[in-house]
Amino acid sequence: MSNPSNFPKELSGHRALVTGGTRGIGAAVAQRLLDADAKVVVVARKADKDMPAGATFVSGDVSTSAGVQAIAKEALAALGGLDILVNNAGGARAFLEGSWTIPDEAWDDSFTLNLQAAIRLTNALLPALRESKAAAVVNISSAAASMPFGPFVHYGAAKAALEYYSRTLALELAPGIRVNVVSPGVIATPGSDEFARTTPGFSTDAWLQLLPLGRIGATEDVAEVVALLVSDRGKFLTGANYRVDGGMTAR
Ligand SMILES: NC(=O)c1ccc[n+]([C@@H]2O[C@H](COP(=O)([O-])OP(=O)(O)OC[C@H]3O[C@@H](n4cnc5c(N)ncnc54)[C@H](OP(=O)(O)O)[C@@H]3O)[C@@H](O)[C@H]2O)c1
Repeated sequence: MSNPSNFPKELSGHRALVTGGTRGIGAAVAQRLLDADAKVVVVARKADKDMPAGATFVSGDVSTSAGVQAIAKEALAALGGLDILVNNAGGARAFLEGSWTIPDEAWDDSFTLNLQAAIRLTNALLPALRESKAAAVVNISSAAASMPFGPFVHYGAAKAALEYYSRTLALELAPGIRVNVVSPGVIATPGSDEFARTTPGFSTDAWLQLLPLGRIGATEDVAEVVALLVSDRGKFLTGANYRVDGGMTAR
């Protein structure tokens, strides 16, 4: 875990919302922002034992329109405004027999959670972000967006659309609000552990073959890049996609 004393208090006075911030990558991002002295709200459907202690928990479902509206209202009431939005909640299950076996409902669910949730929440929070003097949005995509793979095409396609949306938004909102994408590769989280355990053919050993740096990523590897992007150190960065994947997509 991160050591708060290593980090400058560069986000003092900044207010942040992290979806899916109760565990995995989202929890590490929330903790990293707290370490930099930001005030942080984490959102998920239910509380989790790994939730960062210093964050305020807001319960909600980002995959419904009503859920997003309620989350935006409650988060703004808790924070009193917003400077940093991290759209991190996401995921999907694999369909190992191939893309043609993915039911309509799974396609819809993937696009709702991995794309539309970020669009809806960003739109709901845009008035607050426009009030900020240092607004930054980070959308969490995936290496899957750039690696065609049938069993996961509904997920990769939704994340690829999230990247396209983010670049468009970055151009629309510049110079007032910066928008970037972070694309993790294989990162050890409860979500990826569950995936490896329940999906035949996906083991840690198999993944290591794909990773030039020779290890699975840590959630802190992703959190560090997010912290850079939302801080003043990232003030010339917008409309870009930062791959945090140990070289997996370099080939
Ligand atoms: N781990 C990886 O290797 C990896 C690689 C590439 C990209 N990513 C991306 O990184 C992000 C985080 O992944 P992760 O592995 O850290 O996930 P995770 O361990 O499965 O955690 C997911 C988080 O999102 C929340 N969440 C899920 N559905 C939600 C919903 N409908 N409404 C509100 N909150 C919701 C979960 O809480 P509740 O279940 O309580 O709602 C939890 O806090 C995702 O966008 C994922 O696609 C991960």
